[in-house]
Amino acid sequence: MGVFKVLAASVRDFGLVDTLDRLPLWALSPLTRSRLRRRKLAQSSQDGFDEAHGTDTAAILVGREHGLGVSDGGHVVSRYETSSETAIRLALDSLPIDPSGFTFVDLGCGKGKPLMVAASYGFRRLVGVDISPVCIQAARRNIERYGPEPIDASRVELRVEDAEDFEFPDDPLVVYLFNPFPQSVVESVIAKLEESLSRTPREVTIVYMNPTAAAAVRRSAFFRRIPTIADRMPSAADGLPRYQRAAVFVHAPG
Ligand SMILES: C[S@@+](CC[C@H](N)C(=O)[O-])C[C@H]1O[C@@H](n2cnc3c(N)ncnc32)[C@H](O)[C@@H]1O
Repeated sequence: MGVFKVLAASVRDFGLVDTLDRLPLWALSPLTRSRLRRRKLAQSSQDGFDEAHGTDTAAILVGREHGLGVSDGGHVVSRYETSSETAIRLALDSLPIDPSGFTFVDLGCGKGKPLMVAASYGFRRLVGVDISPVCIQAARRNIERYGPEPIDASRVELRVEDAEDFEFPDDPLVVYLFNPFPQSVVESVIAKLEESLSRTPREVTIVYMNPTAAAAVRRSAFFRRIPTIADRMPSAADGLPRYQRAAVFVHAPG
């Protein structure tokens, strides 16, 4: 994957300033906001989860290790990074639903940390979708290794797929996003979800962690943002940074 192709896609998806901000340290980016954010995120994802469960989720994947720089649709494929278990649990605890009636879908599931956390909430089924085969392979290995209480792998479906092509299952859903895509991809995902809801009305909740492209969801007439504890917290006072906040949107038919 040529560097110029990735840079051109990044300028299209995020603009020039954000692209400069995302450049690695060696490129002497004049800006540091995103670099500091990443460093803090890397620290907060090293929260003892892997040591407790025998998994490998904390290590960030970029570049060749990750597999892809630009999707077939011409969009930047964001690096793999994850958040702290505390932030994921806070978001799931805040949902006004009974998980046993819902399928949990992590779009851009990476190495599967939110899927493994969600498994303990009793969701009917768990679906992880990621464009990177390396991530899906790691997620599969993590789910197999997870302990001490094993995860029933027959409840989990993992797919190597571009989120823009993903067909949502007809179940009531919790759709989890951890800032995985640029705004244009979030827009296509929401359009697909709206089509699916028009065909098969059902309850859908979106948990959007670090919701940088939340405007794409707010514009949808199908979804209403609800205030939750995950919106206001975690705050710096809880030791978790702002970008681990989640926005929750709900759709209920009728
Ligand atoms: C920030 S990571 C989040 C991983 C996981 N949800 C978590 O919270 O641990 C974003 C993930 O989105 C994936 N991704 C980026 N663009 C994608 C796309 N168009 N379709 C599917 N996955 C994508 C990346 O490969 C990466 O693993």
